[in-house]
Amino acid sequence: MLKSPDPHVFIVFGGTGDLMRRKLLPALHSLARQGEIGKRFKVLAVARDEMTDSAYRDWALKALEEFACEVAGSDENSTWCNSCLHYQTIGKADQAAFEAVRDRIVALEKEADIPENRIFYLALPPSVFPGTISGLGEVGLNLSEGWTRLVVEKPFGRDLHSAHELNSLLHTYYDEKQVYRIDHYLGKETVQNLLVFRFANPIFENLWNRVHISSVQISVGETVGVGSRAGYYDRAGALRDMVQNHLSQLLTLIAMEAPSAFSADAIRDEKVKVLQSVAPIKSNGVVFAQYADGNVGGEAVPGYLQEDGVAPNSSTETFVALRLEIANWRWQGVPFYLRTGKRLKKRLTQVVINFKKPPVSLFEPFDDCNINANRLALTLQPDEGFDLGFEVKRPGQGMSLKTESLKFQYADEFSQLPDGYETLLHDVMTSDQTLFVRADEVESSWRLYEPLLSGSVGVTNYEAGTWGPQEADRLLAQNGDWWAKL
Ligand code: BG6
Repeated sequence: MLKSPDPHVFIVFGGTGDLMRRKLLPALHSLARQGEIGKRFKVLAVARDEMTDSAYRDWALKALEEFACEVAGSDENSTWCNSCLHYQTIGKADQAAFEAVRDRIVALEKEADIPENRIFYLALPPSVFPGTISGLGEVGLNLSEGWTRLVVEKPFGRDLHSAHELNSLLHTYYDEKQVYRIDHYLGKETVQNLLVFRFANPIFENLWNRVHISSVQISVGETVGVGSRAGYYDRAGALRDMVQNHLSQLLTLIAMEAPSAFSADAIRDEKVKVLQSVAPIKSNGVVFAQYADGNVGGEAVPGYLQEDGVAPNSSTETFVALRLEIANWRWQGVPFYLRTGKRLKKRLTQVVINFKKPPVSLFEPFDDCNINANRLALTLQPDEGFDLGFEVKRPGQGMSLKTESLKFQYADEFSQLPDGYETLLHDVMTSDQTLFVRADEVESSWRLYEPLLSGSVGVTNYEAGTWGPQEADRLLAQNGDWWAKL
């Protein structure tokens, strides 16, 4: 049965930022509308600007009108904003400012008869994570009579060292059980469904190993460019922005062993083991590239170097392709190919499992009887669903084979998939850490990619609107493989 959240105050640092506007406010509002959050609930938005509660509510109302999925009447929206939303400036972010935040929380708790249950959400640029974490800790906002939880957005560090430092700082004030590191991919229904697909369907799970699978491909394609985020992205690049977190999450869910129980730690233990079993990435197993100008969806787009805010000589990668080998009993010898990029041909997140061909090609003597290996494509977004390719006999005289597909599409069965942030916020409120990244998990992931961060990998180019550079095709060709046609 779904647990209901206790009464609490939800405090967002970065309360006037883009994440709050686009994701957090609509998700909180939707949870309230569904009755998941009771009346004894307050949101305290914290940011640098000076603003009254009333001005903040106007800002929030506009955000809801623009971004809430289910458009409630504007009266309903404003009633919710007026009853739940409050604003507090953090000013210089010094001790006095954190004390003022603390006093405001206590006042709100008194006003709405809420026990000391608090969620602190850091929707902030990473440079201010440390100051905020210690600011909260130093004024005693890490502990309370009820419960206190801290949500940290990505990126979590920019290499192993910084991620380790951040974990140490968190653990100075908070117990790991209080910390919720976000990777929004884990909030996606289709990503969670990977566990159900594998562990509720033994017909697949029994084949999920090196005996039956020849290779696995994980592709996350985006059509968008760097947009207005060059300030962050040009220092990050696709490896830090996507591979270390989102693609690695997909990798672990596809490759992990069955956990001993459906519990946060049992599942995360198995995910960590996958990361620890990945063999060091070979230099001929990685391709970095940057988009040049081109045409995406019929529209001419500039190259990365021409984007606003990108350094003119930047060598930041906007595309990564990797070949990974998981050196364990289940996967030894099966290549895992990962690729992601901006300004690619299509927005598509897909996992393709290539099964092995039959050991004997019984139909070879006949014309038109080349057997295509079975292929399972799990489409995680958009057009969510899966597709299993299998061979059939073309009806008629003689023997001729054709590949057909067994398909399932979410849209045929389910009206709408909830937004990932709704799921994740509900989980924080009900203290379920399953879909959050544990300290050792984030460090294991950085450890794996750390050697690629030194600048030693050359960066080639690709035309915007394609599936990346030819080098990415060659990466697979080395093993006689090719990327699935998407
Ligand atoms: C974010 C990255 O974490 O994920 C962005 O910072 C990227 O660069 C985004 O565009 C992709 O998320 P989604 O849910 O649109 O696949």
